[in-house]
Amino acid sequence: MSPGEYKSRGKFITFEGIDGAGKSSHMADAVAFLADQGRTVLSTREPGGTPLGEKLRELLLHQAMHLETEALLLFAARREHLERVIEPALERGDWVICDRFSDASYAYQSGGRGLDRVKFAQLEQWVHPHLQPDLTLLFDLPSAIAARRIVAQARDLDRFERERTDFHERVRQAYLERAAAAPQRIRVIDADQAPEVIRKLIQDTIARHAS
Ligand code: TMP
Repeated sequence: MSPGEYKSRGKFITFEGIDGAGKSSHMADAVAFLADQGRTVLSTREPGGTPLGEKLRELLLHQAMHLETEALLLFAARREHLERVIEPALERGDWVICDRFSDASYAYQSGGRGLDRVKFAQLEQWVHPHLQPDLTLLFDLPSAIAARRIVAQARDLDRFERERTDFHERVRQAYLERAAAAPQRIRVIDADQAPEVIRKLIQDTIARHAS
């Protein structure tokens, strides 16, 4: 960049949905789509995204713990992620594509596990008082279909994936509740459609945000 040239802040896009909704492969497509358009894209995930965050991810996914410990560790990892990765990238003008963010804590910890919503709001307010994603793509799928997809993958499951279908249904409903409260930011995508249809929908949605 030449001196005096102003580079605008990048966009922050998150991918959300219950386990098995298929967001991760579409996220990879979206990153490729943006890169093809000449954007500098940083692809990251939560929990994780930093060396400390990845260690916390390991614990969160495999170690039993109290619900509030779980919520605190998720937001601790998020603080680190924001400070070291997300904010600097947005400041540079890069686009940040993140696999899950605080909507997941609302859905899983409050919706799924019953964390007091006031405590969730306090953590969110503490850790990122002035930041929300510019766009969130929420992959919505009935939990029974998502459960069948996970079983079909025939691999070792983490603590969240092993939860019963009614847990995932509560997570799903909390996601939809959050989307209804922020319709400008959260775009609900019916994940029970052909991958090409979903890919096109995502590209169109992202392209509208790029202009
Ligand atoms: P992933 O499998 O999509 O990478 O996500 C890992 C798991 O972590 C997923 O089952 C959801 C869970 N999770 C929460 O419970 N709360 C959160 O805030 C985040 C970011 C993830």
